[in-house]
Amino acid sequence: MYAIQLINVHKAFGKQKVLKGVSLAIKKRELFYIIGKSGEGKSVLLKHMIGLIKPDKGKVLVEGQDINAVEGKEAIKLRRKIGMVFQYGALFDSMTVYENVAFPLREHFSYSEEEIREIVREKLSLVDLEGIEHKMPSELSGGMRKRVALARALALNPEILLYDEPTTGLDPVLTEEIDRLISSTRDRVGVTSVVVSHDIWSVVKYADRVAFLSNGRIEFLGTPQEFLDSDNPLVRRFVCARFEESMMKLLISACRRRAGITGCQ
Ligand SMILES: Nc1ncnc2c1ncn2[C@@H]1O[C@H](COP(=O)(O)OP(=O)(O)O)[C@@H](O)[C@H]1O
Ligand SMILES: [Mg+2]
Repeated sequence: MYAIQLINVHKAFGKQKVLKGVSLAIKKRELFYIIGKSGEGKSVLLKHMIGLIKPDKGKVLVEGQDINAVEGKEAIKLRRKIGMVFQYGALFDSMTVYENVAFPLREHFSYSEEEIREIVREKLSLVDLEGIEHKMPSELSGGMRKRVALARALALNPEILLYDEPTTGLDPVLTEEIDRLISSTRDRVGVTSVVVSHDIWSVVKYADRVAFLSNGRIEFLGTPQEFLDSDNPLVRRFVCARFEESMMKLLISACRRRAGITGCQ
């Protein structure tokens, strides 16, 4: 059984057709990347997987169950299998790290404080953070905040984790750290991971498979190597443009580091 299956999904907003028949099957434990230009519908696609958006036509199956057809307790159980890490991690600034990670546990279950403390400690250690429960998000580095956001997403033991552009806007060093974290989390917890990205390096280094979304359709689906080797002109154009852009970023960042300029991307 697949973790997630999209079958001929169509979605339009008014007259704008965003998804024009998308079919995908993501395997359990897979680290699956979805890439494409900005505005192509990657976030819309991801939101279908968690039931935040319903298709106009077609189906979304999560572990074989139609996410838009289940009701009541079954629906709650199915949704709880999926966690989402949004682009801007969005920790609650007025809460400590402990309260941030404990938040979904308090929302969904009635654990004792002792049980919560144990789960929070376990999830923080999964993302290589220990002993920072008492800190406020403002006291943490960007990388640590992302780790806490991930620990919070892991609190409910999701089977599937969806990441929407987890590294967009980060410098290359932090991008590498987050990419590695996503990959090691998949290895440690065995969680099926779907990552929306437009960072070609991340895909090449970490993806098991990659889907390229273009003009409302899956234009390519395969391994990173097959992606790089593809003769599809749309893929070629995307790959070249992205490589140029990331090379520029790397060069700029290296120059800045050498010149002692910090705090820039
Ligand atoms: N809730 C919505 N209502 C209307 N239009 C939307 C909505 N969500 C997304 N869109 C439109 O769908 C298109 C794809 O959006 P999105 O999935 O966010 O792109 P991407 O994540 O690939 O950058 C955009 O043109 C966007 O304006
Ligand atoms: Mg998006």
